[in-house]
Parts: sequence; structure tokens; C-alpha cells
Amino acid sequence: MTKYVIQGGKSLHGQVEISGAKNAAVAILPAALLVDGTCRIENIPQISDVTLILKILQDLGADVRTVNRNTVDIDCSHIRNAPVSYEFARKIRASYYLIGALLGRFGFAEVPPPGGCNLGGRPIDQHIKGFVAMGADVDVSGGFIHATAANGRMQGAQVYLDMVSVGATMNIMLAAALAEGLTIIENAAKEPHIVDLANFLNSMGADIMGAGTDIIKIRGVQRLGGGTYSIIPDQIEAGTYMACVASAGGEVVIQNVIPKHLDCITAKLLEMGVEVEEQDDAVLVRSHGSLQRTNVKTQPYPGFPTDMQPQIAAALCVAEGTSVITEGVWDNRYKYVDELRRMGAQIQVDGKVAVIEGVEHLTGAPVSACDLRAGAALIIAGLGAEGCTEIDSVQHIERGYEDIVRKLSALGADIRVVITPDDLRQSQAV
Ligand code: EPZ
Repeated sequence: MTKYVIQGGKSLHGQVEISGAKNAAVAILPAALLVDGTCRIENIPQISDVTLILKILQDLGADVRTVNRNTVDIDCSHIRNAPVSYEFARKIRASYYLIGALLGRFGFAEVPPPGGCNLGGRPIDQHIKGFVAMGADVDVSGGFIHATAANGRMQGAQVYLDMVSVGATMNIMLAAALAEGLTIIENAAKEPHIVDLANFLNSMGADIMGAGTDIIKIRGVQRLGGGTYSIIPDQIEAGTYMACVASAGGEVVIQNVIPKHLDCITAKLLEMGVEVEEQDDAVLVRSHGSLQRTNVKTQPYPGFPTDMQPQIAAALCVAEGTSVITEGVWDNRYKYVDELRRMGAQIQVDGKVAVIEGVEHLTGAPVSACDLRAGAALIIAGLGAEGCTEIDSVQHIERGYEDIVRKLSALGADIRVVITPDDLRQSQAV
């Protein structure tokens, strides 16, 4: 088993470059299925979720050429309308975007139900509601979601989402880009990656207005052509490094960010006594290691992101006073709490509320990353803790953070990857 081993207590200094946004990339890559011609996509994060999506596209017959580490050319001219591989799709949440993209391209999709982080129930009823409103027949049987558009082409429709859903908003956009007529999504999500997907599709010839507001209008076009597009920086990766500095102390310039996207995170760090200075495409974060309590409630954008909840909680474990966290998006996003308790954190969870009594310091311990952001939280805790923290199940972290060990090491963190003999034997056997 691969582990990250962190010797806590080293402050962070220097500059770190933020990669492209995971949750934008995992929608934009499937969107390439709608494009007739080659699209060059730049600033793609090198993470395992992206690798899996690219494998799925290749498996469907897409021609995927690596231009450089973070850029690919994708040509989907010759893809087959085939079932999406169960083996790949079950490992990631974002495989649900293949339903919207394939419905848009062929009027037919066969995709296994999505996998990804276990955060409690993760229904996709709102995605399906949208597809059905647009004339598709959807059923689940034999381990696949089967969706078929009447007459082979999706029809524009008005869709009101019963809750703000990132995935449903983007999936309906994908199904609507080549549909006949106008689709209107009401109560749409407003996250930066929604705007990024709309910008990608528009740059290929789509007609989408209102992304970033709660009403998005998509007028279907006959064809999307090729082009070049660069994915936005990852808001959550940037926020995670900001929390690392809060926990470990130090002064770091976090580069290649859109500071506006970080406002909700910056506001909380300022309340905690961390200094944050906005620059054009960077934020400077300075912390002397002594943190103040605060309360956090996660909400859809522009509220505080649920994908930063475990990381801010890890920093608050050593803040002076009592902090209250309320999870407003997922049913079960406190699985990491038991691991932080092993490091000495004082946290009580009651339903969607966690109460954190700040302690003077955490102490290193062997812990397990139960999901992506839980893993990030354990890194943050380990950087600020006394002694050695060993994190296992780091494959979850590698789903969403490009080169996190290298980036933190360059900032002065004492973090290294330890590969056990079993892992080595397996990699040599491949
Ligand atoms: C996306 O998940 C992200 N994943 C998640 O990031 C993120 O936590 C979430 O959006 C919220 O920002 C990807 O982009 C791949 P939702 P998604 O649909 O689209 C309920 C990470 O760590 N709901 O906005 O699946 C749902 O149960 C991951 O990077 C329905 O009830 O989230 C939840 O309570 C974890 N029915 C809420 O809405 C539906 O049909 C928001 O979910 C859809 C959602």
C-alpha cells in the first residue's frame, strides 16, 4: 500500500502553481464527444480521474493525442455508439457526464451508474428528470443506465431542478447543446466549472447563455466544430493549499488562480486570523500558526464549498475556541472525523453539524484517507501536527490533486511517498 509520510511542524514558504480544475475537466473531456473535429484542451490536471475519462473516450474510439503534460488533442469523429466500460465508469462519479454527452451526440447512451467518493446517497434523479423532459426514455437494468431519445435527437425543454445540482446542470447542458430547439434550466448551479463548461461549448460553436446565473438557456445548434480551450484553475486545489498554510504556518504565493473564485474561502481564513492578499492571478497567504475559531456552513456557489469542508475543519482543530461546521450539501461528509480524532482532535458530530473544540496541537498518527477531500484534510492536519503522520489509501487523494507531494515538498514540507514491497511487486508485474 502506498502511503504519504509527513513529519509535521515545518512551515511553508515559496510559490505553488495551481493545476486545472478537476470538476471542470471531468465534464469538458466528455463534452469533446459532441465536437465534430479536433479539440485541443489545455491546462488539464494530471490526476487519476482524468486518466480514467480519457481511457473511456479512447475505449469509445476517440483519437486522444498527448501534446504535452497538460494538453491533449481529442478527435471524436470516429467514435462508436457503444456501452461505456463498467470497469472504468464505476470508479468515478463524473462518468455520469457520458450520459448527457452520448445522448447529445447519438440520441442513445448506455452507461453504468457512477462511482466516486461515498458521501451518503448520491442520486441522479435530477439528471434523469432533465433527460426525460427532453424526450428521452431512461431505464436502469442489467447494471446500466439506458437512455434513448425519441426520434434519435434530444428536444429542447424547460427543466426546473428541485435542488441546485452541479452534475444535473452540466449534464443537461451537454444533452442540450445539439438538441432541437431551446432548453432552459431553472434553479441551475452557478459553480465556476458550470461557466467553464459553457465557455468550452460556446467556443466550439454552441449557443449557451446565462451560465453562472440560476437560469441557463441553451439553443441547440446543428454542429460543434473543433478549437482550442484552456480549463480554469482549480478553486478547491487552491483552497486546499491556503488551508495548508493556515495549518503549518508560513508565507506562500498561490499562483494561477482566479481570486474571485476563492472569495468564500478567503473570507473564512481572514476570520481565522490568516492574512490573504489578492493579486492579479495569485493570492499570497501568510499565517503565524495561531488560528481563531469560526463557523462554516457549506452551500452551493457562491457559498462556502462542500469540497473544502474537511480541509477547513482540519485547520480549525487547532484554532482557539469552539467552531461549528454545518454541511449543507451532502448527507455524510464527516467520515474523516474519526481519523482526525486519532490525531487528538476534539470533534463531536451530530447529523450534519460538527462542533470542533480547538486543541493546542494535533499529534501525528497512522490514518486513512477515506475519500478525496478527507485525504486532503489529513495532509493539512499532518503538516501542522507534532510528530509523524502516515496516511494510507492515498489513491483517493491522487484522484484529484496533481503532484501534491512534489508541490508541498517544494514549499518546504517534510512529506514523502512510501511504497510498500507489495506495491512495488505489483507495479513491476504490469
Ligand atoms: C459535484 O458532485 C462534484 N463532483 C462534487 O465534488 C461536489 O461535492 C458537488 O458537485 C457539489 O459541489 C464532480 O463534479 C464530479 P450535486 P455532484 O449534483 O454533481 C443532491 C469532490 O470532492 N442531488 O451538486 O454529484 C445530492 O445528493 C467531489 O471533488 C440529488 O438529490 O453533486 C447532493 O445532496 C465530491 N439528485 C446535492 O444534490 C440529483 O439528481 C448536490 O449534488 C443530483 C443531486
